[in-house]
Amino acid sequence: MFITDDIRYIGVNDHKKDLFEGQYIVPNGMAYNSYVIMDEKIAVMDSVDADFGEEWLANLEGELAGRKPDYLVVQHMEPDHSANISLFMEKYPEASVVASARAFTMMKQFFGTDFADRKIVVKEGAQIELGSHVLNIIEAPLVHWPEVIMTYDSKDKVLFSADGFGKFGALDVEEDWACEARRYYMGIVGKYGIQVQKVLKKAAALDIAIICPLHGPVLNENLSYYINLYDTWSSYRPEGEGVVICVSSIYGHTMDAAKALAEKLKEKGCPKVSVFDLARDDMAEAVEDAFRYDRLVLASVTYNGTIFPDMNTFIAHLTERNYQNRTIAFVENGSWAPAAARIMGKLFEKSKNITIAENTVTIRSAMNEDTAAQIEALAEELCGK
Ligand code: FEO
Repeated sequence: MFITDDIRYIGVNDHKKDLFEGQYIVPNGMAYNSYVIMDEKIAVMDSVDADFGEEWLANLEGELAGRKPDYLVVQHMEPDHSANISLFMEKYPEASVVASARAFTMMKQFFGTDFADRKIVVKEGAQIELGSHVLNIIEAPLVHWPEVIMTYDSKDKVLFSADGFGKFGALDVEEDWACEARRYYMGIVGKYGIQVQKVLKKAAALDIAIICPLHGPVLNENLSYYINLYDTWSSYRPEGEGVVICVSSIYGHTMDAAKALAEKLKEKGCPKVSVFDLARDDMAEAVEDAFRYDRLVLASVTYNGTIFPDMNTFIAHLTERNYQNRTIAFVENGSWAPAAARIMGKLFEKSKNITIAENTVTIRSAMNEDTAAQIEALAEELCGK
């Protein structure tokens, strides 16, 4: 597949993976992208997941027209991209591998060798000349591992963006970009907003016509749409107004209160209300929505003197990704000693710019008139006129 006259797609689609990175469901599969740049010298951009080495090499062979690659550029050492470096180096013994110093350290850790006599260590500003194409190296540490580089081809104005601008989903399935790119970003890159902001500043100085990420489609039009979303996400600004209600319920009474609150919020004209059952819904979707909208309600039973395990996990997902700039409200349930609201609040003590709602809903076992009044007050606080 041609990206430009000289740049071809040689990646693969994965419809076998049960959990990407050991935790993310990928109902529409996953793409591991790789590219080859054909010039006087030939550069291959990254490899693919371990299960697809032969398919990847066959894709590459199909583009080489009998020639041999000169470089394998390793932008990122996470195994979904690096697993077939050794296979490539065995097949093409005259090729060199181009990567950051940290990537070579990881190569030795993963493969027992850093290809010492065939390695080219690059840092910010380095250039690899292929002929008419020049690859400009851009360091992008922690987007999303510390060794990451991105690469800018000044001839075709292509940014090879590593995991940046990636998404879940194989390329043979049509789906909305933002939905699965946002879930991917919040889950995988979300902690590293500061580092993404630094890379966006570097990218702003480049004339970019095409973005070639390591996952998801090649982006070749309306690039400001994608770049603006990345700017919003990485600066931890809410993308929209709305209330996300995340619930840990055992016998359904806490969920009843959450649903009653959702109805009240809708009655009051709240632009977007969503409810997640943390035990049954995809937690990565709940994390995505918590970062997408500006208001969050956490509803948990009190359990073993603390909060329900799923809620604990969910809050950890938020705080370790630097959740900030949002309003949070609590709904707690306890048949004899409700404590969930206090405990959930403590878990956000180190989070920046969090406003805790004045109203907390406390359920004693099941909903009653008093709970309904508390729900009304909280709905008014969150979405009143
Ligand atoms: Fe797609 Fe961070 O690996």
